Amino acid sequence: MSHVLTTKQFTKADAERILARAKDMELQCSTGTVDKLLKDKIVACIFFEPSTRTRLSFETAALRLGAQVISAEDAAGNSSAYKGETIKDTARILSCYADAIVMRHYLPGAAEALASAASKPVVNAGDGAHEHPSQGLLDLYTIKKEHGRLENLTVAFVGDLKNSRTLHSLLPLMVQYPGNIFYFVSPKELRVAPEQLADLTAKGVKFIESENLDEVLPKADVLYMTRVQKERFENEADYDKVKDAFLLVKSDLDQMKPDAIIMHPLPRINEVDHAIDTDKRAAYFRQAQNGLYVRMALLLYVFGL
Ligand code: CP
Repeated sequence: MSHVLTTKQFTKADAERILARAKDMELQCSTGTVDKLLKDKIVACIFFEPSTRTRLSFETAALRLGAQVISAEDAAGNSSAYKGETIKDTARILSCYADAIVMRHYLPGAAEALASAASKPVVNAGDGAHEHPSQGLLDLYTIKKEHGRLENLTVAFVGDLKNSRTLHSLLPLMVQYPGNIFYFVSPKELRVAPEQLADLTAKGVKFIESENLDEVLPKADVLYMTRVQKERFENEADYDKVKDAFLLVKSDLDQMKPDAIIMHPLPRINEVDHAIDTDKRAAYFRQAQNGLYVRMALLLYVFGL
């Protein structure tokens, strides 16, 4: 039994095995010949925070592989957590019914707490501002598919880098590849945490912090836009100060490399103008599609298949 709690649990070889499996899943989906390897399994999806992509792609992944799904889509309001049941008791109960548990929660560390009490594999579908490992892996898959490589890339993360769990999951994967350079573009209130920067320095990773998107646009091979995470702010005034910090508009594309890609974990609010969607560099919908294949691969991984 394997949990998926953080991308830090994966070596480069582990991640590449999952990417290879995802590629196989993509091929099987495209030819309509998906092996029903999970046909006797039940997957529970319990979400304490809203989701479109993660929950529905995990459910689709399970169904495509022949599993059945039980789902609590508003667990904060509609599960017994509302009455005060603990995460650990929830883990014990879900382990009685399902063969694997996919959980999103607003508290950092919630997935680890669930896994510590579950007797079935747990997949972290996002725990507060901490991590979103399936997103990190689907982002890695997308970069590999779009650029054909994972090394010697300039990757610019833009927006709310303090609260972005997608950054927290993708970065530990990307730093395993040589020659990558990272730009962190954010308002000063939303900088990458100092301890994360110290960790990068200790590992010899090359990074540059900036508050100026224009200086980064011509350099980026991957422009990774992020939403300012309103739900992580303590008050509306602080959010209002930074909510529209960086908006990518069509004229910005002129400054970018012709083979750059624009990524966004979505949902977008005011970070990427819709007029950009038709440009071939806009990769965010392809990125979301890749989530299905990577989540199929991850379900197989947790079952040891
Ligand atoms: N990227 C992502 O996690 O999207 P959802 O919140 O819609 O699942």
